[in-house]
Amino acid sequence: MGSAAASPPPSGKLTQDELKRVAAHRAVEFVEPGMTLGLGTGSTAAHALDRLGDLLRAGALPGVAGVPTSLKTEAHASAVGIPLLPLDAASGARIALSIDGADEVDPDLNLVKGRGGSLLREKMIEGAGDRFVVIVDESKLVPRLGCTGAIPVEVIPFGAPHTLGLIRNLFDGLPGFHARLRTVPAAKGEDLEQPFVTDNGNYIVEMFFEDGIRGDLRDISDRLLRITGVVEHGMFLGMATTVIVANKDGTVAVMG
Ligand code: 5RP
Repeated sequence: MGSAAASPPPSGKLTQDELKRVAAHRAVEFVEPGMTLGLGTGSTAAHALDRLGDLLRAGALPGVAGVPTSLKTEAHASAVGIPLLPLDAASGARIALSIDGADEVDPDLNLVKGRGGSLLREKMIEGAGDRFVVIVDESKLVPRLGCTGAIPVEVIPFGAPHTLGLIRNLFDGLPGFHARLRTVPAAKGEDLEQPFVTDNGNYIVEMFFEDGIRGDLRDISDRLLRITGVVEHGMFLGMATTVIVANKDGTVAVMG
């Protein structure tokens, strides 16, 4: 994938987590005093939270506050001293910039998000802001969405097996396609694994495609969202304004 800008490599070989940190720190350079931020969820976004916390404590970013995309991020941001706001236009705090990781980034900067389970709040908050900066290591770059794992779909618990069936019907006969309800291992003393429950009290259907999802993604998105029982899906189409990629060779590419 091409890059708009690349910085010189830091010395030595970086681990994947260090690459995530490099991308996160680069994104935080876009933050200015007084900004309200969308605060992402996941291991990459966590590095941005830590960096923001450091800068806030050092007094370098007065007036910065954040809108968290998950309960986990809310707890992390509070712990590092980032003031928090609700997603509420009435507060007068427009989200200037969101920073978040992604599970996959395609050549058009479309994303898969939500393998961590936070896609709904992420899409609401990141879609409400002026700018959405995505931070990834190069392993997240894919030729097509759904190449490396599931595309998640948040569904309401009522009738979830029925909604799962309707989602399966959308891709009926597509070779290699399958879908299932995400589960978590059985709790101690329980026999069966339990459905994964999102921060919103919903379930997640995971859609798997052989070699990724093909076709008109917007049309597929519309058809998914028309299923009663589907709340939202993890394809973030045309939402990323900038993607920062930390490469294994130590370079950082800023796209968009
Ligand atoms: C959570 C997400 C995360 O941004 C995505 O899963 C990437 O996570 P990580 O930075 O840990 O690789 O969408 O819902």
